[in-house]
Amino acid sequence: LNSKFVRDEDERPKVAYNVFSDEIPVISLAGIDDVDGKRGEICRQIVEACENWGIFQVVDHGVDTNLVADMTRLARDFFALPPEDKLRFDMSGGKKGGFIVSSHLQGEAVQDWREIVTYFSYPVRNRDYSRWPDKPEGWVKVTEEYSERLMSLACKLLEVLSEAMGLEKESLTNACVDMDQKIVVNYYPKCPQPDLTLGLKRHTDPGTITLLLQDQVGGLQATRDNGKTWITVQPVEGAFVVNLGDHGHFLSNGRFKNADHQAVVNSNSSRLSIATFQNPAPDATVYPLKVREGEKAILEEPITFAEMYKRKMGRDLELARLKKLAKEERDHKEVDKPVDQIFA
Ligand code: OGA
Ligand code: NI
Repeated sequence: LNSKFVRDEDERPKVAYNVFSDEIPVISLAGIDDVDGKRGEICRQIVEACENWGIFQVVDHGVDTNLVADMTRLARDFFALPPEDKLRFDMSGGKKGGFIVSSHLQGEAVQDWREIVTYFSYPVRNRDYSRWPDKPEGWVKVTEEYSERLMSLACKLLEVLSEAMGLEKESLTNACVDMDQKIVVNYYPKCPQPDLTLGLKRHTDPGTITLLLQDQVGGLQATRDNGKTWITVQPVEGAFVVNLGDHGHFLSNGRFKNADHQAVVNSNSSRLSIATFQNPAPDATVYPLKVREGEKAILEEPITFAEMYKRKMGRDLELARLKKLAKEERDHKEVDKPVDQIFA
């Protein structure tokens, strides 16, 4: 494995990609609009999952099976294209949307084992179709439809959480002002030494709520004890994995968890996942919408989402910088050592 993909020991996978846990609840949304029927019980399950893990899976969510199948097929077809076709949409020069191999963060010491395509899909007025891959044919249309359906599903789930906080249904969506949405199609190629690397390193999503469609391979992992123990989320055919991000966490004053997660890879098969992030507008205010009796606000003062994101990236980059420095120092020491010591 090329050393640029080799993670420090403490970051490497601790649990296999295909040893699945059933700790993350799978919740059927059938009957969610039935106020005098199932709604209460479904909402209770969602809220409990958000308090425990900040992750759950939904089935019977109403998003058309054929649409999901088309989206997946077209995504797979894209990654199978020759590099020159994919690189027409290269976004490594700071372009907004398109194709990129591996990590986003400049200054990262170690790279993720993945390729991605990113669509900035909301607000609609900001869509730059010149950055949406025109191959395979029809993918743009399908992505538009997919993006709309997932935006509605996300808003429906935010309604549940708003109600659980004792607020008006629209409170969380309104707090996003003019909601952004970004679709990231992740392709994780087969990896010869999956134990040394990660498909996507550990993180929390910055935004409000994320919907993830994954294939049946497995590789999404979550921790709720700061990385000591990990579980691999069981893939469920037709389900979306839902997780809350930092914004959702802050708005609920920490009541709902911003799931800490990563993706591992394997040597048997490639893996495809499609993450759809719902984020507040950059100038939306980040501050708890409700502070419960006896609690203190977990933010000192209201900040904008852009500022929240900047601080998060700043912390990540600083950590990355320190890691890189430490690595260079180690590599240097190797070089400086007398030859007989290196080979000893
Ligand atoms: C993400 C993400 C997990 C996966 O794209 O933010 O967490 O399994 N993806 O691909
Ligand atoms: Ni994520």
